[in-house]
Amino acid sequence: MSATRLASSTLDSDSFRAIADLAYRESGLTLADKKATMIQSRLRHRLRILGLPDFAAYCAYIQSENGQEEHPHLISALTTNVSHFFRESHHFDTLGKLVAKRLPDLRAGGCLRIWSAGCSNGQEPLSIAMTLLDHAPDMHKLDLRILATDIDASVINFAREGVYPDRLMSGVSDEMRARFFTRHTASAGGESGYAAKSEIKGMIRYNPLNLLKEWPMRSQFDVIFCRNVVIYFDVETQCRLWPRMHQLLRPDGVLFLGHSERIAQPEKFGFRVGEPTTYRPL
Ligand SMILES: C[S@@+](CC[C@H](N)C(=O)[O-])C[C@H]1O[C@@H](n2cnc3c(N)ncnc32)[C@H](O)[C@@H]1O
Repeated sequence: MSATRLASSTLDSDSFRAIADLAYRESGLTLADKKATMIQSRLRHRLRILGLPDFAAYCAYIQSENGQEEHPHLISALTTNVSHFFRESHHFDTLGKLVAKRLPDLRAGGCLRIWSAGCSNGQEPLSIAMTLLDHAPDMHKLDLRILATDIDASVINFAREGVYPDRLMSGVSDEMRARFFTRHTASAGGESGYAAKSEIKGMIRYNPLNLLKEWPMRSQFDVIFCRNVVIYFDVETQCRLWPRMHQLLRPDGVLFLGHSERIAQPEKFGFRVGEPTTYRPL
């Protein structure tokens, strides 16, 4: 198969539907028709790797038994992983206040558990770790832990490495860079960057987790960050998530959503709205 033919393969409407249906079933992503060009360009790379002639062949493959192993790659190609350090900084102000309030209890042997659900490349959980350390310099003596999960194993691997090219470092002040990162001269793509120090990386446990599937966590969290994730889900999928989030949140806990996300009728799911995009159990 010539590279030119592979590269020019166009996404026909049947293939679009099959891919969109599979993405919805497996991950909750809703892909509107207007996303066809985006899907086409993101998946051409997969066709090339698999040596498949066109999207019809790709769809036959993903629907076959052997093609199951392609599903994570398909989902990874279709998810949007954009993130920033200290994105929506007001959430980190709220987190800082919460930590300050809980410090006496923590110093008396209590624990603080935080979940970054849909953590992408780790900028969100690292921002959480820096905020905690900023408020609790004696943190190494305290029981603070951050769980960071994402459906996309490739971003989890990136996050575990914790090396960020310069272009991804905006939002981290010079003071924080000096305190929590070391200069890294040749990161993944040969770009210079910064490596997160073990002081912050060590506070985070990274695991792949699909929000639509079973969650292995049994104990509750004080804080859940689930930001800029459910925006890709339809209302039905979102409404299945809220009771599960509520169940995993301590009665005095906080749930943060992204700036364009909201829980419609929060009281129906046991939440009240606090500050913008901040929900607390009723
Ligand atoms: C735009 S990023 C948001 C990253 C970070 N929370 C933030 O606000 O900067 C959305 C992330 O949600 C993840 N995601 C999408 N569907 C998911 C699912 N069903 N389960 C878990 N993570 C999912 C994607 O892989 C992606 O990394």
